[in-house]
Amino acid sequence: MSIENDLHLISDFDKNYCLQVFAPLPVAFTKGKGSYLYDTDGNKYLDMIGGIAVNSLGHANPKLVSAISKQARNLIHCCNYYYIPQRSELAYRLCRASFADKAFFCNSGAEANEAAIKIARGYFSHQDIDRTEIITAEMSFHGRTYGTMTATGQEKFSKPFAPVVPGFKYVPYNDIDAIKAAITPKTAAIMLELIQGESGVHPADAEYIKAVRNLCTEKGLLLIFDEVQTGIGRTGKMFCYQNYGVTPDIMTLAKGLGGGVPIGAMLCTDEVAKGFKPGDHGSTFGGNPLACAAGIAVMEYFGEANLLDNVTLVSAALFEKLNKLKAKYSCVTDVRGQGLLIGIEFDESIIASGLREELFRAGFLVSSIGRSVIRIAPPLIITKSQAISFVKALDSLLATRMGVKPNPIISAFKNIGRKESPTAKALSEAKPEETKPATLPAPVEDDEL
Ligand SMILES: Cc1ncc(COP(=O)(O)O)c(C=O)c1O
Repeated sequence: MSIENDLHLISDFDKNYCLQVFAPLPVAFTKGKGSYLYDTDGNKYLDMIGGIAVNSLGHANPKLVSAISKQARNLIHCCNYYYIPQRSELAYRLCRASFADKAFFCNSGAEANEAAIKIARGYFSHQDIDRTEIITAEMSFHGRTYGTMTATGQEKFSKPFAPVVPGFKYVPYNDIDAIKAAITPKTAAIMLELIQGESGVHPADAEYIKAVRNLCTEKGLLLIFDEVQTGIGRTGKMFCYQNYGVTPDIMTLAKGLGGGVPIGAMLCTDEVAKGFKPGDHGSTFGGNPLACAAGIAVMEYFGEANLLDNVTLVSAALFEKLNKLKAKYSCVTDVRGQGLLIGIEFDESIIASGLREELFRAGFLVSSIGRSVIRIAPPLIITKSQAISFVKALDSLLATRMGVKPNPIISAFKNIGRKESPTAKALSEAKPEETKPATLPAPVEDDEL
């Protein structure tokens, strides 16, 4: 039995047999190519969210597919009792590309952050120094395990599951005085995202990050950058910290590293590596040949395809066009972020989740955060014209909503290439109060906003 192309069965089975921790849109994707996804009805969508910053090389990237197929044919799993060539090579590549001397591999962002928290405490306890407290930022997001949900500076994630892990303190983001005031003789580390992705794409100030680095050096504290979302080219540099001119002691990665194959990594200096003795930490699946082969293919692809240059080019175009929308529509209150991690904030006249659904029905996939922010984090291979087609669709939707005359060029592209989709019907039936029928272009390749 295969239910792959039957959306009704897929959603029925999901509701009946999967734990209901997500609230999916009524769509299932069965195929991807480049920056596009295709649903069970054959409809095409421009993927402006990339599996939440995961599909760094887009979908079905031939190099990635070939690397994992080849590896699967040779050896998928091998336990950590033995050397693993792909693990050694990926560690070498990541250390060569960053400040780090050592890498530990796991399977997700939360696990990478668990390793970071643990090694920070281990670093001091192995020297018989009583420093256990970790300072993190309010509105941060570090994961869903006990340690990382406690590190997350948003009570809503941990409150129902108390008691949480002791030893965490939260301070307002971008406020150096708050960090200074929170430090005690028991402080071990400061853990920060350089862009707070999950709370609405809020970048850290350059001066703040420099001051935090100086403070850590002065007080002998470890600085942890959570680059689970910002790492692996997302911001136009291989790692986001490289935009700030400072280095951390520990960095965590996941999302984009495997291009869709689950992998996480905790990187650190040789000094910090003293925090784990043999047997202190481990993972059955972490560093397995398949995931590491994917990581190597992703790292290689950056050089071969000048991916960082593409991120910079497309990002500049997106910021320029989105800022034009901000000037045109009073409901757009902010456009922020870096590289291809961008948040678009709206005033109270727009409900972000409703706009996300309208964009979806027009063939564009984004995420919404809270009431007011649309986040985009497309594949890093996205072309400038594809990205601009998204801005045009957003322009057209906002024009309809704000009563501004739509761009005539856009109107001419209405509904080109899109079937009347049962998915869209299901969506309007599911949430009629938040959606309006969209009359928008399918993603187009070549014309300018
Ligand atoms: C900054 C950051 N850290 C950690 C995580 C958790 O990663 P995962 O869901 O792979 O455990 C996320 C996920 O969104 C994240 O954005």
